[in-house]
Amino acid sequence: MATVKVPATNTQLDDAAEIAAFLKPYGIWHERWDVEGRIGDDATAEEILAAYEPEIERLKVAGGYVTADVINVSPETPNLDAMLARFDKEHTHSEDEVRFTVRGHGVFWVNPENGDPVFAIEVGVGDLINVPRGTKHWFHLCNDRTIRCIRLFQEMAGWTPEYMDNGVHVEHPPVCWGPNFLTAEAASAALGDGPVRL
Ligand SMILES: [Fe+2]
Repeated sequence: MATVKVPATNTQLDDAAEIAAFLKPYGIWHERWDVEGRIGDDATAEEILAAYEPEIERLKVAGGYVTADVINVSPETPNLDAMLARFDKEHTHSEDEVRFTVRGHGVFWVNPENGDPVFAIEVGVGDLINVPRGTKHWFHLCNDRTIRCIRLFQEMAGWTPEYMDNGVHVEHPPVCWGPNFLTAEAASAALGDGPVRL
């Protein structure tokens, strides 16, 4: 279940209806999809896309998405830190960023264009969120350094970021606070190689 947090106002939202109401003005939607028994632990990308085909097809029609794939990130991922460094700096895309999590956790940070304070959405298994095109955002992994997501794209070119380079992301430590809560200090101590980030 997703959690929303606004550090500047010390606000945390755990209720699905409250989260939806909070996100709506920013054009962000969150859905919970039924996951029980849909895929096995060792499901291939093709099996995952097939299992969630009804939901994917619904989104394609609603949002003009033309293709879907599955991204798989784990501590064993080659060049993981280099991959994470592409995601953890404030950026935008020319298309929506749509992610449905089937394994692991992650945090989407959003820097609203209207001057509202930065907020974060922690997602886990069963959470679908949409970060609209042009929205300034960045992404961190949680301490399990694991996330497997279905991604939908409106352009066949796929994931193309445009970085802001104004340093806002540096002001927000890459920590999770939901079921996977871990402080930055604890993460550093546990890993011995700096905080956890994606
Ligand atoms: Fe992004």
